[in-house]
Amino acid sequence: MKTAILSDIHGNLEALEAVLSDLEKLQPDRILCLGDLIGYGPDPEAVVNRVAELEIRCVLGNHEAALSSEKALGWLNFLARENNLATKSLLSDRSLDFCASLPRSIRFENACFVHGCPPDSILKYLYMLGDADITDLVETLPEKRFFVGHTHELRLITISRGDIARTKLAEGSLELIEDMTYFINVGSVGHPRDGNGKAKYVLWDNRDGTLQVRGVSYPAHLTAEKIVARGFPKAYAICICPSFK
Ligand SMILES: [Fe+2]
Repeated sequence: MKTAILSDIHGNLEALEAVLSDLEKLQPDRILCLGDLIGYGPDPEAVVNRVAELEIRCVLGNHEAALSSEKALGWLNFLARENNLATKSLLSDRSLDFCASLPRSIRFENACFVHGCPPDSILKYLYMLGDADITDLVETLPEKRFFVGHTHELRLITISRGDIARTKLAEGSLELIEDMTYFINVGSVGHPRDGNGKAKYVLWDNRDGTLQVRGVSYPAHLTAEKIVARGFPKAYAICICPSFK
């Protein structure tokens, strides 16, 4: 079973469409999204509609949670809070209901899918976990494959017989070893923070154990122009398109 795992689309329709085009060639059996469909980007309504229309299973991100929770809104920094309120005004009631209906995690076939940190945190960042925290998590959870988003960075943590290794992930393929445990941070489709304008996602094949990291080019300058035209912070435009003036 080939599973495409997307995260942090953040209202970036051009990046999402580029990833969907890439997936047409790869023909996954299913597509999952790890939350933050909205926020920062100029097309939240179109992104939510596209995800809903394609019946992509999605978990709750902290930006969706902030739409309906004062507490979750308070977790965002000032700029992101203002942006969340502006984003909310662009969403239909149907899209707001869709965002409110998202589960905190999806778990099946030895894998757990969550926005922030397993088993179901939408806020905690994976890099906040020390080795002892990771050891505790691995001992208490039955899965061996954990897919997360939230940091917008490609990262990998491997755990084998108590040894923990942390590495960056790059485009390309790697083979996951069956009896090892992996935390895979899948990067961001629509708001990468790595200075590389490509939309990132991963394709996981649970039969042969391969993990493919994909980076897809898209017209980020168009999205950047739309961000500014919406009156959203220019910093968000520069983040996805470093050459944007
Ligand atoms: Fe995010």
